[in-house]
Amino acid sequence: MLEIHDLAKLSYDQENSKSPYTFAGISAHMQQGERISLIGASGQGKSTLLRTLALLNTPDEGDMIYERASFREVGPRHWRKQICYVAQQAVMLPGSIEDNLCVASRLHGQPFDRKLADQLLEASGLEHLDIKKQASDMSGGEMQRIALIRSMLLRPGVLLLDEVTSSLDTISTRAVEKLLQGWHASEGTTLIWVTHELEQAARTSDRVWYMSSNTILEDAPTAEFFRKPATESARTFIQYNENEVQP
Ligand SMILES: Nc1ncnc2c1ncn2[C@@H]1O[C@H](COP(=O)(O)OP(=O)(O)OP(=O)(O)O)[C@@H](O)[C@H]1O
Ligand SMILES: [Mg+2]
Repeated sequence: MLEIHDLAKLSYDQENSKSPYTFAGISAHMQQGERISLIGASGQGKSTLLRTLALLNTPDEGDMIYERASFREVGPRHWRKQICYVAQQAVMLPGSIEDNLCVASRLHGQPFDRKLADQLLEASGLEHLDIKKQASDMSGGEMQRIALIRSMLLRPGVLLLDEVTSSLDTISTRAVEKLLQGWHASEGTTLIWVTHELEQAARTSDRVWYMSSNTILEDAPTAEFFRKPATESARTFIQYNENEVQP
């Protein structure tokens, strides 16, 4: 249902970098409800790829097709309603936490589902939060979860999660993982999840995209990827993180 064909994004710094591209030649087909982990070293372009998939950046080459329509046909507003990016660094809009939770639904002309918001707050360990409070007064980890819930309330077909548990302690991380797995099971949402924790990737995904050399170097079922990576690059990457992995 989401297809990408030869997707490429030119680098900002074409003169000085080895390749003129931040990423290039990325092709993949995703079925509805797949859970994909996007992993790779820092600076490989994982965030840029997710932002491009959500049309927050425009691809310089290639095509993206969601439910048989190219991004060029449907326009960014409609596209972003269905494919939603949750940023690595949560950005809160001015106003209360409640304003932040309402904003996406207001923007897309959908009613605010207060009951669902309360359920998601509870499931992510934020039931204590007074949502009338200023959003800017929250901790980084609280903001991260509010940003995630703000996107979930839109019920997009595809959720692009950029290190969404990086500011959380172990208990909150597990709560968010459980919340997302439950959401995936009930809503059938496709998840593409960037993480630096290989153990988390092994736990939460069916398929791994390993990014290296400005592209998706490996695209494999999760268990197979960790058991027998196909490239030397991925083998080395896993070895460096070996202590963390329990596939
Ligand atoms: N809109 C853009 N167009 C082209 N290149 C970009 C764009 N935004 C960021 N980049 C470049 O892409 C490179 C990769 O950055 P990116 O943030 O995507 O890496 P990452 O894999 O997410 O790293 P990390 O694991 O540290 O978060 C950087 O050199 C950055 O300058
Ligand atoms: Mg990143």
